[in-house]
Amino acid sequence: MEVYTGSIARRYDGLSRRGCCLSCGGALSFAGVTRGDFCIDLGCGKGRDVIRMATLAGESGYACGVDISSGMIEIAREQALKLGIENIGFIKSCLERIALVDNCADLIISNCTINHSLNQGRVWKEISRLLKPGGRFVVSDIYAIENVPDKYRLDPEMIAECWAGAVRREVYLHNIADAGLESVEILEESLPYEKGKIKVASFTVKGFSK
Ligand SMILES: C[S@@+](CC[C@H](N)C(=O)[O-])C[C@H]1O[C@@H](n2cnc3c(N)ncnc32)[C@H](O)[C@@H]1O
Repeated sequence: MEVYTGSIARRYDGLSRRGCCLSCGGALSFAGVTRGDFCIDLGCGKGRDVIRMATLAGESGYACGVDISSGMIEIAREQALKLGIENIGFIKSCLERIALVDNCADLIISNCTINHSLNQGRVWKEISRLLKPGGRFVVSDIYAIENVPDKYRLDPEMIAECWAGAVRREVYLHNIADAGLESVEILEESLPYEKGKIKVASFTVKGFSK
C-alpha cells in the first residue's frame, strides 16, 4: 500500500507546480452546488473545484478537498488563502480511509482519481459512508475496455500515470451498487481511446445515497 501511495504522491507532487489539466470529465458542471451544501472533492489536486464549490455553497456551506499529495494540498491551500476563501479545508489522506465523520456530505465529486485506487470498492464504500441520506455524488473517471494485465495493474508507476488501475465498466458500476448507492446515471461518456498501454474510456456518473 505504501509503495503504491508513495508513487502516486511523488508523481503528483511533481505535477503540482505545472499548469497541466488533470481532469477527465465535467463532474463539477453537473454537480448543482447549492448554498449551504457540505461538499467534498476526492483527489482534489490543486483545489480548483474545491474553491469553486466553496464559493457556490456560500458562507453557510463548506467545501473540503482530499488528496494524497502534499504538493497538491500545499498549492490548494495557497490558492484558497490568496482568494480569501474561509469556508474551505484540505485533508491529506488516501481515499480508502478518510478522516471525516459519517453522513457529513451533501455532495461528493471526484475527477480522474478513483482509477488510482487498488481497492476501488473500498473507496465507493467511503463515499457511501460520508454522504448524508439523499446526498449525491458526481464522479468523472476512466474505465478499462478490457481487463488490465497484472504486469501493468500492479505497477505503482503505471497506476500513477492514470491508466493501469482502471477497472472495466461493469466492475466500476458494480462497485457503486455494492456500496449501496442508487439511481445511478451516466451523464457523459467518451469513445474508447488509447492511454498508456491499454484502451480506456471516460465517463461521468451521478447517483445518490439511500
Ligand atoms: C489526475 S489528478 C486529478 C486532480 C483534480 N481532480 C483535477 O481534476 O484537476 C488525480 C489526483 O488524485 C490524487 N490521488 C490519486 N490517488 C489517490 C489516493 N489513493 N488517495 C488520495 N488522493 C489520490 C493525486 O494526488 C492527484 O492530485
